[in-house]
Amino acid sequence: MTSSSKRLADSRYRERSECRVCGTDSLYPFLDLGAMPPSNGFLSSPDDDEQFFPLEVVVCDSCDHVQLQHTVDREYLFSEYHYFSSASEPLLEHFGAYADAVESRYLDDDDFVVEIGSNDGVLLSQFGEAISTLGVDPAENVAEAAREKGVETVTELFSPEVAGRIRADYGEAAAVCANNVVGHIDDLHGLMRGLDTLLEPEGVFVMEVPYFVDLLSNHQFDTIYHEHLSYFSVRSLSRLVEQFDMQVVDVDRMDVHGGTIRAHVQRQSAERSPARIVRDLESLELAMGLDGRDAYDEFAERVEQTRTRIDTLLDRLAGEDVSIVGYGAPAKGNVLLNYCDVGPETVDYLLDTTPKKQGTYSPGMHIPVRSPGAFHDDPPEYAFLLAWNYRSAILEKESDYREEGGSFVVPIPYVDVV
Ligand code: TMP
Ligand code: ZN
Repeated sequence: MTSSSKRLADSRYRERSECRVCGTDSLYPFLDLGAMPPSNGFLSSPDDDEQFFPLEVVVCDSCDHVQLQHTVDREYLFSEYHYFSSASEPLLEHFGAYADAVESRYLDDDDFVVEIGSNDGVLLSQFGEAISTLGVDPAENVAEAAREKGVETVTELFSPEVAGRIRADYGEAAAVCANNVVGHIDDLHGLMRGLDTLLEPEGVFVMEVPYFVDLLSNHQFDTIYHEHLSYFSVRSLSRLVEQFDMQVVDVDRMDVHGGTIRAHVQRQSAERSPARIVRDLESLELAMGLDGRDAYDEFAERVEQTRTRIDTLLDRLAGEDVSIVGYGAPAKGNVLLNYCDVGPETVDYLLDTTPKKQGTYSPGMHIPVRSPGAFHDDPPEYAFLLAWNYRSAILEKESDYREEGGSFVVPIPYVDVV
């Protein structure tokens, strides 16, 4: 497929003229990843109709918040929500440790915890018996899975109105959690007003988001897709919460999803004072030049170089009459394949452990998705590691493949063959 056939949809998305954090209209565009289908829009047939949307990244000259220029309709994007947090063993453990950390640091018996975007209840189900919990998630299928685990869940999109109803029915929350969801929210001020309604005076908002510093440093451009509207730094998050008389009081850095921050936010009137790490990370972000335009322009150049390296390498390999398959069919893999214009003429198929993806065709490039059995029955010379965030686990799992002569082509953080 050539890029020219990827015509933009004429509806179902909006261009934003104002920053989602500070509301000014000084948005500087620095990266255009081209017309892109929804990155989880797997097709049941390669001839299925498909919509393409702009995928352009801007930084606000006023508050330095990095975000998408366009918002694709949330209903359209999330109409079928297939991502169950509990499906991944490492994530299950991560959320267990997370519940323990919040409980021991902030909670007393009988305290009330709310989670925004609670998915299948993977976090809330791991709090102790003495804590009462409530999940909020708009996707009926994941909410039902949470209820089956005994996690009470309201099927709603979190908003100031929903927050008001929760407060009236259950009281104020000692802690509100939100994991990998704040970046998906278009109306960040609505989120903050809801928090302001729901949190106790000394309550804490604990949220996890991918860290823009890791995205930039490790060239993770493929984690940019329509679901992810915001790419937070500690500074831009601070600018957001300050407008609601709150502050970031602590930040933990974690390895999840290629680099995540867990930020602890409180009212400015609350007792705890900010830990030094908050200021340190803000200093790091300034040292990286995130308050100017050059750092973003240079990042965009490195993204283009990455594309050139991937295309050159895959072209050379394909010219040697070897077989190449994609290892994993994650959303980010689809961004990478579309941006680099790599299709079934180069990559025979993508293998993925997710049963729902098997037998489908990848969005945009229409590469068939198969089960890992295909890979083991007839190993290709090269496996293109699209699920690079699981690099060490996959290299370990596939040590036989490499010992028998197979190689991995790794795209991120650097184009490499191992
Ligand atoms: P994620 O990065 O969003 O968790 O997606 C990873 C994708 O890669 C998911 O579709 C499952 C797939 N996968 C495999 O096919 N084999 C593996 O060994 C691992 C770790 C993931
Ligand atoms: Zn701004």
